Amino acid sequence: MIYQEIRHVISSEQFANIDLVEQLFSRATELKDRDKKRELPKSMEGLSMTYLFYEPSTRTRLSFIGAMKKLGGMADGTESARVFSSVTKGETLEDSIIVVSNYSDVIVLRYDKKGGAERAAKVSKVPILNAGDGTGEHPTQFLLDLYTIGDEFKNRGNNTLERLKGLKIALVGDLKYGRTVHSLVKAAHTYFANGNKIYLVSPDQLRLPDEYKSDITSAGIIVEELKDWNKILPEVDVLYMTRVQKERFESEEEYEKVKGSYIFDEPELSIFNPNGIIMHPLPRAGEISFAVDRDPRAAYFRQAENGLYVRMALLEEVTGYNRRLAA
Ligand code: CP
Repeated sequence: MIYQEIRHVISSEQFANIDLVEQLFSRATELKDRDKKRELPKSMEGLSMTYLFYEPSTRTRLSFIGAMKKLGGMADGTESARVFSSVTKGETLEDSIIVVSNYSDVIVLRYDKKGGAERAAKVSKVPILNAGDGTGEHPTQFLLDLYTIGDEFKNRGNNTLERLKGLKIALVGDLKYGRTVHSLVKAAHTYFANGNKIYLVSPDQLRLPDEYKSDITSAGIIVEELKDWNKILPEVDVLYMTRVQKERFESEEEYEKVKGSYIFDEPELSIFNPNGIIMHPLPRAGEISFAVDRDPRAAYFRQAENGLYVRMALLEEVTGYNRRLAA
């Protein structure tokens, strides 16, 4: 049993301990089963979580709140820290975190600039969970994405690594600004270096930055960059779609040029690998048509649901639930 190996969650790179990740995933599955039976443990009883979101969120914020409350803990915070916190009076992120870390046992932070979670972790007395830092990373999304791939391909093996082996994965859309993709590639050397192939599909303007590309090429993973996705759709096992991040563009005109670059609709579905899955961190902004939702290969709503249970397991890990149980 591993007791609280992870404290702050800043980057997917921290999840290089495969045994720990397997343990988190098996706990997530157990919690999912117990939730369906209304038999969740009160593992967060007496603990409180503060959420500070400097950018909008539906899934990450509400699944963390749901996870904490369903496990018997408390959750409070602000969904719009730029408007409803003392940031409006000029308070720094560091000062806010120093103060808030006196009020709760764990802080979930979505910041609007890369590096925000790392800055917060340097001054916090309690675990910081990076819920997205600008164009940087989204490590808890990485965990739920990895869990989802393993869960969708259960029949390929007994553990996550076996299930991932040899999969062809296409990352599609906004690879420049998409932090969920950044977190996936930063951990690729641990999880996708076993006969895997990664396709990077984007318009020129939204290619994966070199700082992230080197994470996969240096791990010896076969990588192919392309713009036309038609030839790979029949063979891709995991199609990971992303939204073009309108909020990151300097002008509406630049966004308009690339926003509809990849739309997965019925013609694409008709040639897509019959055994593949379609993922998306959501929200979507037109890049997957609603007609695709009915197809069993559309895994994105199951992926979003998994976020609740992976985050439950993560909250238990960072607050030392197993250690408390053993004491
Ligand atoms: N996937 C994700 O981060 O969604 P939200 O922005 O709604 O939290």
